[in-house]
Amino acid sequence: MSVHKNVKRVTTHVLQEMKDNNEKISMLTGYDFSMAKIIDSAGIDVILVGDSASNVMAGHETTLPITLDQMIYHAASVVRAVERALVVVDMPFGSYQGNSKEALSTAIRIMKESGGHAVKMEGGQEIIESISRILTAGIPVMGHLGLTPQSIYKFGTYVVRAKQEEEANRLIEDAKALEAAGCFSIVLEKIPAELAARVAKEVSIPIIGIGAGNGVDGQVLVVHDMLGINNDFNPRFLRKYHNLYEEMTNAFKQYIGDVRSGDFPNEKEQY
Ligand code: KIV
Repeated sequence: MSVHKNVKRVTTHVLQEMKDNNEKISMLTGYDFSMAKIIDSAGIDVILVGDSASNVMAGHETTLPITLDQMIYHAASVVRAVERALVVVDMPFGSYQGNSKEALSTAIRIMKESGGHAVKMEGGQEIIESISRILTAGIPVMGHLGLTPQSIYKFGTYVVRAKQEEEANRLIEDAKALEAAGCFSIVLEKIPAELAARVAKEVSIPIIGIGAGNGVDGQVLVVHDMLGINNDFNPRFLRKYHNLYEEMTNAFKQYIGDVRSGDFPNEKEQY
C-alpha cells in the first residue's frame, strides 16, 4: 500500500517509510506564503526553504549573503501556508560552520521563530560536531553533499563534483558519517548519477538528488527554475515545466497596454 497517499502530515518517519517502500520523494523549494500554498496543495512531500532565496528572491550572485533573520522570515511565511508537507529550512552560511554551540542556537532560533520542522546543513565530517549537538536538542537534520553552494569560493565553479575517485570515496564516507550521526536524509547535488545511486544503496536514509540522476530516493528542484521564471538558467539537469518568464512578460505587457489605452478598467471592473 502506498505510504504517501495515506499521509495527512509528512514527517521524517514518513520519508523513511517511503524509501523503505520504494516510493520516490518529491521536494521543491519555497520561500513565500502564496507559492508554498500552491506547492503544498499540489501534494509535494517536502518544501525546502533553501538559501537559494539569496539568488532567486534577493538577486545575489551566491547563497552566502542571506542572513539568519531573512531565512527565518522566508521560513515562517512558508510554514503559515503549509498543511501537509514537511518544511525543511536551510541553515545560512556562517551560522554553523566551526562552532557547534552557535550551530545549536541557530537551529533553535529557526525552529522557534519559523515553526519549520527540520534544518538542512551543507558539509560532511567537518560539521559532524554541529550536527550531533543539534540532534541532541531533538531537531531533525538533513545533510547536503556534492556541490555545496555555500563553498563556491572554495570550489571556484559550479561544475559537477566528485567525478574523480578520491572525491567520490570521500563523499561516500561523508554520507555514511551523516547517517551514523543521525541525519534523517541527505541532499546530493550535481554529482555523477552512478555515484548517487551507490550512495542511495549504501545508506539506509532517504537520498534526495538535484542533478544526481534517477537512482536516488527523491528529487528536488528550485521552484523558480522548474517554472521557467529564470530565463537564463538552463543546466542539463533542469526540467522546465513551464515558461513563466514568457507568460508573465506577456501578461504584464497586456496590462500595460490596457492601462495606456484606457481599456482597463471597464464598466464591470469599477464601483
Ligand atoms: O538552497 C537550495 O535551494 C538548495 C537546493 C538546491 C537543494 O539547497
